[in-house]
Amino acid sequence: MPHFLDIHTTDKPALRGMIDQARAMKEARNGLPKATPDADQPLRNHMVALIFEKPSTRTRVSFDVGVRQMGGQTMVLSGKEMQLGHGETIADTARVLSRYVDLIMIRTFEETVLQELAEYASVPVINGLTNRTHPCQIMADILTYEEHRGPIKGRKVVWSGDGNNVCASFLHAAGQFGFDLTFTGPEALDPDPEFVALARAEGAKIEIIRDPVEAVAGADLVVTDTWVSMHDSQSNRERRHNLLRAYQVNDALMAQAKPDALFMHCLPAHREEEVTNAVMDGPQSVVFDEAENRLHAQKAVMRYCLGL
Ligand code: CP
Ligand code: NVA
Repeated sequence: MPHFLDIHTTDKPALRGMIDQARAMKEARNGLPKATPDADQPLRNHMVALIFEKPSTRTRVSFDVGVRQMGGQTMVLSGKEMQLGHGETIADTARVLSRYVDLIMIRTFEETVLQELAEYASVPVINGLTNRTHPCQIMADILTYEEHRGPIKGRKVVWSGDGNNVCASFLHAAGQFGFDLTFTGPEALDPDPEFVALARAEGAKIEIIRDPVEAVAGADLVVTDTWVSMHDSQSNRERRHNLLRAYQVNDALMAQAKPDALFMHCLPAHREEEVTNAVMDGPQSVVFDEAENRLHAQKAVMRYCLGL
């Protein structure tokens, strides 16, 4: 049963198929009102559970709308309000939910929760973000890059800032989609070396360069994210800001990239912290296309999981 747990654990042809299908499905809708059903209704008669143990705007709304466009139904569940948050095991939750729904999407803290849910569920499970990874986001980002600039294969992506969960899924994607990734950030916030090694083993060129100006030279795409993720303790906020200040994406940094380089951020952004207003709202920014493409990319992910 195909779960969608991470980009590096999903095979390459399937990933490529999802990006291409997402693009075709997006084009087929071409500006229709959002509640207009898709012409085919692949999720007709299907029920999807969307579980959130952390806040969300994009993931929550895009999954819900995507299921409805494809003819299915959703229930949005808060982890805190489920027995899951009051001592029921993940395995039992997985077994029970599998009797009611056809597909489960979960946003949680520990990766082990996702893995255990997938192990004990008899329906597919989708990773809607953990402390470690955020694969749905990067599927949307690849769709976005390719819509604007063509194939991402062989391009240079620069991640500036915290080597966090979104950065991890970018590393996985570098290996699977064949692009180069340069990480620039403080050593204390480096991405997981295991993920760096995995991407390199797949043949991707992965560099770690401390100087952001040097790192961004020749970039086709510059990406950043919040300096304090949802799972990070607020008590480390000041330390993180001090470590990361030099890695802010601003006009001076973007000027080092290729003239046609794009800027991406998964959002929510903390304007004037990791990115300036000028870059967020500037001509190279595609942040709202990325947000829209969560919808289209995840529709393809759900079809893949359900074999529809
Ligand atoms: N980018 C992203 O996953 O946003 P949300 O936290 O709003 O879902
Ligand atoms: N790195 C961020 C991503 C939010 C979508 C977080 O985990 O909070």
